[in-house]
Amino acid sequence: MEYQYLIVERRERVGLIQLNRPKQLNALCDALVDEMVAALDDFEADDGIGAIVITGSEKAFAAGADITAMKDFSHMDAYRGDYITRNWERVKTCRKPVVAAVAGYALGGGCELAMMCDFILAADSAQFGQPEIKLGTLPGAGGTQRLPRAVGKAKAMEMCLTGRLMNAEEAERAGLVARVVPAASLLEEALATAARIASFSLPVVMMIKEAVNRSFESSLQEGLLFERRSFHASFGLEDQKEGMAAFSEKRPPEFRHR
Ligand code: CAA
Repeated sequence: MEYQYLIVERRERVGLIQLNRPKQLNALCDALVDEMVAALDDFEADDGIGAIVITGSEKAFAAGADITAMKDFSHMDAYRGDYITRNWERVKTCRKPVVAAVAGYALGGGCELAMMCDFILAADSAQFGQPEIKLGTLPGAGGTQRLPRAVGKAKAMEMCLTGRLMNAEEAERAGLVARVVPAASLLEEALATAARIASFSLPVVMMIKEAVNRSFESSLQEGLLFERRSFHASFGLEDQKEGMAAFSEKRPPEFRHR
């Protein structure tokens, strides 16, 4: 497929999606998100891909939903078109792990897109925020829901109510990002991290992702049961036999189901 707003590449077992709408700081217009969904569908269906990285540019991961495109929307336009949520959640429903590699601005929908990914690696230049209040509106792709779960109510409430940005260091301290790395090595680090994930047994990777995500959707008891059932199910996998045999034989495992 030809992409207008993305650069899509395969780096061995990692699928790389780079948002590429530089003049608008990767503002997330419908066409860009449609392309991103198509790229995710392709990588999801591709047995040669074990993990996905979504990144932006040095200046901006994404500066939010496209304000120019939505500024004249009526309530009916937004509601009927199910604006924003229509297909963005595809990032979340992806069963393979998705890593966000964030440099520069991740604002509004850009911050929300990063939070839909499984975890965020941030460049030291990254800035996160939900500045929708300054536009007379509010986050529409999960900012009021995922940000408090990531950084706690106090910081999330302050950020959403004031539009204040959070830098990479604060974001790491608050638990929004997994790790901060120098901007110059962000992509390399993200690809190496995704490659490491993709080297493990894919069914196990998918079970772990499902189980961790379950912790946000269920009671502790339900989540623990889900985890235990998945753990039991892993004993039906050839890769579990291989992983444990390799440990006993003091050799590296050769997972077949990658
Ligand atoms: N939508 C459309 N265009 C955008 C944009 C956006 N979200 N963000 C930036 N742009 C455009 C600018 O209009 C500008 O275009 P022109 O050159 O044609 O004027 C270009 O990108 C460069 O932007 P700036 O000149 O503003 O660059 P800067 O370095 O001075 O500032 C910035 C960078 C602080 C990110 C600033 O662009 C900004 O505040 N952008 C808007 C951020 C925002 O409010 N995001 C939330 C959007 S609403 C949303 O996302 C809803 C939701 O929950 C899904």
